[in-house]
Amino acid sequence: MARNDEFLYILRNANPIETVMGSYVNLIRRGRNYICSCPFHSERTPSCTVFTDTQSFYCFGCGAGGDVISFVMKAENLDFMEAVKLLAERSGLEVPDNNRRDNRSAQRKTRIYEMNRLAAKFFYHNLVKGDNKAGLQYFLNRRLTPQTIKKYGLGFASDSYHELTSMLRSNGYTDEEIVDAWLGGKSERTGKTYDLFRNRVMFPIFDLRGNIIGFGGRVLDDSKPKYLNTGKTPVFDKGSNLFSMNFAKNSDSKRLILCEGYMDVIAVNQAGFENVVATLGTAITPDQARLISHYCDEVVVSYDSDGAGRAATQKAIKHFSDVGLRTKILRMEGAKDPDEYIKKFGAPRFRNLIEGSDDANNFMLDRCEEGIDTGTEAGKVELLKRVSNVLAEIESPLEREVYISRTAQKCDISPEILKSHINDIIRKKKNSKKMEEWKSIKAKTAYVRDDINPDAVKYKKEAKAEEAIISRLLLRPDDCEMIEAEAPADIFVTEFNRRVYTAVLSAIKNSDKFTLSLLNDEFTPQEMGKISGISAENREFSVTDQALKDCADVLKKHKNSISADQGGDISEDQLRALFDSKRK
Ligand code: UTP
Ligand code: MN
Repeated sequence: MARNDEFLYILRNANPIETVMGSYVNLIRRGRNYICSCPFHSERTPSCTVFTDTQSFYCFGCGAGGDVISFVMKAENLDFMEAVKLLAERSGLEVPDNNRRDNRSAQRKTRIYEMNRLAAKFFYHNLVKGDNKAGLQYFLNRRLTPQTIKKYGLGFASDSYHELTSMLRSNGYTDEEIVDAWLGGKSERTGKTYDLFRNRVMFPIFDLRGNIIGFGGRVLDDSKPKYLNTGKTPVFDKGSNLFSMNFAKNSDSKRLILCEGYMDVIAVNQAGFENVVATLGTAITPDQARLISHYCDEVVVSYDSDGAGRAATQKAIKHFSDVGLRTKILRMEGAKDPDEYIKKFGAPRFRNLIEGSDDANNFMLDRCEEGIDTGTEAGKVELLKRVSNVLAEIESPLEREVYISRTAQKCDISPEILKSHINDIIRKKKNSKKMEEWKSIKAKTAYVRDDINPDAVKYKKEAKAEEAIISRLLLRPDDCEMIEAEAPADIFVTEFNRRVYTAVLSAIKNSDKFTLSLLNDEFTPQEMGKISGISAENREFSVTDQALKDCADVLKKHKNSISADQGGDISEDQLRALFDSKRK
């Protein structure tokens, strides 16, 4: 037990959870504790609490929780050792050697990062120095400078089924690992491993810490698919990373430009904007919107000007508004995307375009007119309906007022009537939003519960009693002897709670100072969340000595009723049933 504990204790002291979490979210003081909007799901009213005494956090909305280490694991998508290392670095501590326990999943990730880096170097060298100049010519035709090519580490994958795999193999990577990294595929027919990226220009994708997590590969002509992207691997999740975020995160700008494609990002960056990113071949996710909101106040959506681009823009506006980001829309005329625009009109005009980008509300209002004939009465009514719904979404009353008077004028209707109609919608929305939030909270907590402690569904009362006992132990570790005497572990009914209780008891006995961190070894991040929840949800009705006794009684009664079932007092009916079952 002792090997990790001391270091983890020091590490935790050096990284108070309120300080660490405070650099991710805005913490609001509530007495000794803090509340904040949960960093792990989108919400408007804060439901996440940071408890300074137990140095833990818990979201009453989504059930995420744990100590400072589990927080970093979740927030940065790291495993336990990586999170420990990051916190150690943050606080200037050195991780002792005996702490570098072999962690298979961390090792697997490291191997993939190494393979990706080797592959990227190989592709780059191939692009710049290889015999086949088609890839280089392609980029030069698209007006990329050698500096840009180098900065982004662009490359070229030859039209070969074995070049990359052979190189990786000769560097000591197994075929299994190559397939694991999504750099090779396994042939169904021959069982052999072959290169997945062939005859494509290559775009490496970096995470925020500078690891290469995957690639996008583009064909040189019009063949399909235009782009091939790395699939899901232990290090690559296309829904939570952004292309070029490794550069954008260092920009001083409070604004971020969001494009649709890799080539757009690179062209915009080359034109002098460091603050530009793109999603990885998918529509933007709430996760990505949240990530962006950690780095800027305003997003300029610069999607293609076609129908698909406009539909995607509308969705992006919704996600950004959910995380409180101001959103502007780039209005491009004479070009289909930023890359083409810059090529045609130059960087200075693109800068003007960014500066003059339009408010998201105007974009949404314009979109209302699509597909209806505003010359007819029916068309006007439909337009007013759509427009009212858009205006009802504007949060600032002042801003809403401006748009209302403008729209009223345009639609030739009295502003008072429009305003009262919109206020109606807002009132209804508020109610249904509250209900929805509540419903999703209930759904999520139910899910987390079932998942982690399946027994709790059957033994509700007993599980509640167990949780009260555990929470008393967590909040008052000094009482552990009395608590254990009152409620020995063998009276626990649900298996998960018994495991938690036993682990907490032994952690308390084996260390000078108990902290939740000591459990990180034995429990998954999800289980840690549940454990934080147990202490968070019981702390309002502090578990008194009498309550503790009552809870223990509930469990003892359950135990007695089981043993009664099994021996002695058996009714005739039960006896018959027993015989029947034996006979079968
Ligand atoms: P675009 O078709 O707009 O491509 O797709 P692009 O990036 O502007 O590339 P060029 O200018 O034609 O060379 C936008 C993004 O959608 C994803 C890629 O991330 C691309 O950058 N995409 C597109 C795919 O993942 N697969 C595809 O087959 C096509
Ligand atoms: Mn393009």
